[in-house]
Amino acid sequence: MSVPGQCENSEDDGGPGRRELAAVIGLLERLDARLVAVGHGRDLRSRRAAERFSEAWRASRDRDGVHREVATTVDWPAQAASWLKPARRFTDAAADAWVVADATPGWAGMSKRLLASTRWEAARTVAFSGLDRQLSGAVLERGEFDGLVGVDADGGLWFVEHGNLIRHEPTTPRSEMELEINREPVEVAPGAVHVPGWLNGEEQRKLVAACREWARGPAPMRHTKLPNGGEMSVQTVCLGWHWTPYRYTREAIDQDGAPVAPMPTWLADLGRAAVGDAYGNAEAATGYSPDATLINFYDEEARLGMHQDKDERCGAPVVSLSIGDTCIFRFGNTESRGRPYTDIELRSGDLFVFGGPSRFAFHGVPKVLPGTADPALGLQGGRLNLTLRETGLSGEAVGEPEIGAR
Ligand code: SIN
Ligand code: MN
Repeated sequence: MSVPGQCENSEDDGGPGRRELAAVIGLLERLDARLVAVGHGRDLRSRRAAERFSEAWRASRDRDGVHREVATTVDWPAQAASWLKPARRFTDAAADAWVVADATPGWAGMSKRLLASTRWEAARTVAFSGLDRQLSGAVLERGEFDGLVGVDADGGLWFVEHGNLIRHEPTTPRSEMELEINREPVEVAPGAVHVPGWLNGEEQRKLVAACREWARGPAPMRHTKLPNGGEMSVQTVCLGWHWTPYRYTREAIDQDGAPVAPMPTWLADLGRAAVGDAYGNAEAATGYSPDATLINFYDEEARLGMHQDKDERCGAPVVSLSIGDTCIFRFGNTESRGRPYTDIELRSGDLFVFGGPSRFAFHGVPKVLPGTADPALGLQGGRLNLTLRETGLSGEAVGEPEIGAR
């Protein structure tokens, strides 16, 4: 019998595949967990899932080379008068995170009990082995599972936010050049998706030409001044709303009050397509209305320290488009500038979208790799990055003619 998502399981016995287990371990790494408590339903699939996970977890090591451990393993029935005992045992053990494998209705009773009687936190839990299918609308809507992250049977990531379960199904890269060198989309963290080679050569050249125009003004590209008297090493020009630390205005308040250039409709459309492709979700794309773009230019010395994009009054995703020299992009966590973080290479044409639980993650650019861009892009060295954002501020509507008309 062929069951979707179980094709990697050589024994084909209904247990989790390698991809599912690897994704669970990846999510636990994001929580910086070493010691976990494992809980599961009593059906065969959940039992096997828990066993295989525990085996894989114990065989793995953290970044200091220390073996990971399972503090306790607890199971629970599909039906019971009360799930109090297993709920207490599951949460009494000192653990950095909880791991749940349960595709049975038992999870409804168990989770109710966990919420009512223990210190369990959805946000420190990784679920797999079909649990996503147990999270029905009514249960989710109460918001009690917000922050829960998990892996579906195909190894795809999901998370719960504002009472909705959101899945990531990144599409394949579009650019022929990137397809040739076979770079795959990567879900760096729940809600944070890197789509290599998303812009083709022509789209990149069009953006380079547009950025050259925008850089001239009315509020020209400049090194933004910082409140401590210093200035940023990247140079920035804004569209739609003008950003200075740490707010948005309609005029360039640090440049003689020049009006900010409008954000063109075609760029907002590109942002919508980016969200749709990164999340594989047409609905997420329709609801996205970016009204500001920050265009950063990095010469070979420029860097961007770890920071959060948090001057927007809206949790809509940030869309980042990179053109020119490759950089090392550091994508971290929502708590601090430090570890855990993931360093990835953003190359010319790459798309990176961060929303959902990763929307307010710290991120930065510790390094640009000079001389790595294709000279045919029309950039004389350096790296351009455009971040499209929804500010959540009220103001005039977004909309501007095509660049050719400027
Ligand atoms: C930013 O964080 O605003 C820009 C990130 C990048 O340059 O990739
Ligand atoms: Mn940023």
